[in-house]
Amino acid sequence: MVWNLVFMVNARTMSPMDKRFYLTTAIDYINGEPHLGHAYEKIIADVIARAHRSLGEEVFFLTGSDEHGQKVQQAAQAEGKTPQAYCDALAASWQAFVKSIGLSNDDFVRTTESRHIAVVQAILSRLHAEGQFYKEKHKGFYSTTAETFLTEKDRLPDGSFDASYGKVVELEEENYYFKLGEHQAWLIEHIEANPGFIAPDSRRNEVLGFLKNNTLEDLCISRPASRLNWGIPIPFDKDFVTYVWFDALVNYISVPCALGDPVVVEALSFFNPVPSSPSQISPTDRIQLMAWLKKEEGTSIQLWPADLHIIGKDILKFHTVYWPIMLKAMKLPLPKQVLVHGWWQKNGEKLSKSTGNVVDPIAVINEWGVDAFRYYVVRELDIGPDGNWTDDGFKSRYNSELANGLGNLVNRSLSMIKRYREGVVPKGVNKLAKEISETRSRVIAAYRANELQKALVQCGGLVTLANQYIDQTSPFKLAKDPARAGELNDILRTLAEVCHALGTLLWPVMPGASERIQEQLGFTNTAISVAGATGNPWGHSPVARVFPKTGTSLAEEPAPIAEGHRIGEVAPLFPRKDQ
Ligand code: MSP
Repeated sequence: MVWNLVFMVNARTMSPMDKRFYLTTAIDYINGEPHLGHAYEKIIADVIARAHRSLGEEVFFLTGSDEHGQKVQQAAQAEGKTPQAYCDALAASWQAFVKSIGLSNDDFVRTTESRHIAVVQAILSRLHAEGQFYKEKHKGFYSTTAETFLTEKDRLPDGSFDASYGKVVELEEENYYFKLGEHQAWLIEHIEANPGFIAPDSRRNEVLGFLKNNTLEDLCISRPASRLNWGIPIPFDKDFVTYVWFDALVNYISVPCALGDPVVVEALSFFNPVPSSPSQISPTDRIQLMAWLKKEEGTSIQLWPADLHIIGKDILKFHTVYWPIMLKAMKLPLPKQVLVHGWWQKNGEKLSKSTGNVVDPIAVINEWGVDAFRYYVVRELDIGPDGNWTDDGFKSRYNSELANGLGNLVNRSLSMIKRYREGVVPKGVNKLAKEISETRSRVIAAYRANELQKALVQCGGLVTLANQYIDQTSPFKLAKDPARAGELNDILRTLAEVCHALGTLLWPVMPGASERIQEQLGFTNTAISVAGATGNPWGHSPVARVFPKTGTSLAEEPAPIAEGHRIGEVAPLFPRKDQ
């Protein structure tokens, strides 16, 4: 049946307009608990995804788990489980984590899924056929912790290797290598010609410095199956599995490929040559066929090239040196930007499970709420430098900026509309119209530039201004004087408009709190956010059509709240917790 379709489909031409804004995060190793660092990266990606959606763009946001490797194989063995059963349990808990931190990802890729494995193997076969790999014996010092050969450069001054490498053993091993030599010059040119390719600038300079001062060593892409069998088998040599970057990095194109992205399907020459009969279709072929079919039918979505890869500083080289080279070898365009964030510490020390220096995002969320957690990490740490978590710092921002700042503003404003105008937003002059409009422009510009901290600083400025406006105009005094009803109307109208704007501008960072602001303002159609299944459990509907209804769209300048509009139930957004 599927087979007949191959010959029936009609190609539909897609326009470049169909391409979605495609952003990804690093895929996490799942043999540990998710910590603050993992949560931070995923949250900043989610804020960017939501900001683009609320600006009216179609977005595809991908995250996932990196499941192969020796550590997983050994941990599974220790628990008496198969690696697959072990990974299935862990992946389920990571997927639950993704939901707990409020991610609006469109898909979650697991490197043990057949849709991913099929693409990795197709790429390996193709590059092998083109002579991009060679096999060589290598003798050296191997770190069992880092699962890699160390070089002379890794030695400490006394000749030993750092304790973080764990047990280091001398090993002779034959492996496959990917030739990198011919790629160094064009990559330097590409990075220099495209200043936005690596952000922030400090990371770009770091990569350029590395490329200009070192000769790239060829990349080892395999491990003998006798030593590591929990990996993707190399299709042209059964004695090897691929390790590690030809597995992990490829997730960024394996999902687009499975969705039939024409750019990827085309470049990988998927399903070519076509097997002569359906009986020859292996599971891998089937996935390739499905991808090809989607492309031919025009039911695919266009994602590649990625608009944004969001990663931490430790995997910079893999994403800005090896990945572009791999893509070039596959004849695929390069991603538009790699955005590199810094690392979190706690109390000035490295996060470490063994010393107990950890921040458990779920514990913080259970106590303070997911919006407060998301707000804090984005407000505290700009994308780029390293950050430091302290419990006191968190509480202090919560109390001053959320409880006393935003929460108090919304609560005071709406309570006064209830008390003095029976819950109806009065006709009046918006005295802060200019400030709201300017804040809006600055926040939108900041979101577009991935300057998330700046967006929150701008919103915070509007909160402070509006709270000062209440203190200066003393509406509670005016309320006692019927002759000054007009002045009071202006104040209440102004405050309602400020709250409405904040409930929109803050939505990407604090979707829950923002929707509650809109609900309390009486915009009841707010529960939709980006939800709406598309047959894929991670799927979100094209949101551009939903946002204007929710009042959380940044795409259009909002109309003033209608005269006579009735607000909803008022309740504290961020209860004070001083002790
Ligand atoms: N599996 C690889 C990535 C493959 S991407 C194709 C990996 N996994 S990881 O679980 O170790 O890290 C996942 C992400 O979390 C990385 O971007 C890493 O930089 C980030 N972080 C890990 N610890 C961190 C902090 N302490 N602070 C901030 N981010 C941190 O690497």
